[in-house]
Amino acid sequence: MTLSPSERVSSIPPYAFASLATKLNAMVAAGTDVIRLDMGNPDLPPAPHIVDALVASCRRDDTHGYGGYFGIPAFRQAIADYYERRFGVVLDVKTELSPLIGSKEGLANLNLAWLDPGDIALVPDPGYLTYGMGPLLANAEVVRFDLKAENNWQPDFDSIPVEVARRARLLWLNYPNNPTGALGDEGLFRRAIDFCRRYDILLCHDNPYSDITFDGYRAPSILAIPGAKEVAIEFNSLSKSHNLAGWRLGMAVGNATAIKALATVKTQIDTGLAIPVQQMAIAALTGDQSWVAERNAEYQRRRDIAVAGLRALGLDAAPPKATLYIWFPVPHGFTDVTFHEKILVDTGVSIAPGSIYGENGRGWMRLSISTPTARLEEAMARLKTVRW
Ligand SMILES: Cc1ncc(COP(=O)(O)O)c(C=O)c1O
Repeated sequence: MTLSPSERVSSIPPYAFASLATKLNAMVAAGTDVIRLDMGNPDLPPAPHIVDALVASCRRDDTHGYGGYFGIPAFRQAIADYYERRFGVVLDVKTELSPLIGSKEGLANLNLAWLDPGDIALVPDPGYLTYGMGPLLANAEVVRFDLKAENNWQPDFDSIPVEVARRARLLWLNYPNNPTGALGDEGLFRRAIDFCRRYDILLCHDNPYSDITFDGYRAPSILAIPGAKEVAIEFNSLSKSHNLAGWRLGMAVGNATAIKALATVKTQIDTGLAIPVQQMAIAALTGDQSWVAERNAEYQRRRDIAVAGLRALGLDAAPPKATLYIWFPVPHGFTDVTFHEKILVDTGVSIAPGSIYGENGRGWMRLSISTPTARLEEAMARLKTVRW
């Protein structure tokens, strides 16, 4: 007897960070003190009032059942209030938003909601892995478009062939950008909206780093562009913005047809978020936000430590104005994979190789600052001992 998974699943490579974690865990088990600067996993806790809301809700007797397919009304309202206060975007609380069990869930499920076999999803290279893998779950085709350093890691929509654009049904964008740290602006968003309108493509903007910003920068929502909702949805997440990555809290907002299609898929697959987790999210989105600026000041200090450390080694690192990531080219004589291996073996420091994110990431590294400051300093001290 031979059991085998679907061809669809067999065509999907292992998730790069899952494989990396297995390798690093084996090193730790063998006694290496590994410092992980490869993953965007916030190490700091959320503000106390957020945890208090979770605990208080958990202590009630009536909060342990299913949390509702579409989220409790107060959570839906909190998402709408957050978007209006933070981005000046007014959402119809009934039709233009959906809570998500972490935004990654929505990024993946949207493909089932929007793509038929043979449709094209346009995906940035480099880009977050789920944009490229999610369409494969829907038997759709992925066509990558380039983000290049010389264009500030922004796309040139004219480079997408017309016959590809005509078959495309989804296009992914993500600014502030993972892995490059690049920023979006109104001009880029308008060009993306025009392109997607011309070809009837659903524009999916992924904005989980909108509240991780430095040097006074404020990241916009694509939905703040007039008319954007006719063609766009935006994904957001409390993972990075409010240090809640493990609790799996995200949202999709914008175009009502896309939100409804996504909700249709989700009602068949999940049964919503736990009520205490939703109560925690309400406290995070509507409570005091002053701690977010303090948290960002801490990240900014770490960013400066990392950039100074890399530059002292002769590496060409620039300080990003947003995200958790410093994106820099590898030194001469290395690929991103050999450089990752070299510093991991010599120092126990793990920095993500850029090719994980696509061909255009080849020759680049992504260093994450979501590690305690003392560990980051220790990592930079260890890197000084490497000779190349
Ligand atoms: C660009 C991007 N989108 C989405 C996610 C997923 O976030 P969540 O924790 O909300 O699933 C991440 C996480 O690293 C990310 O970098």
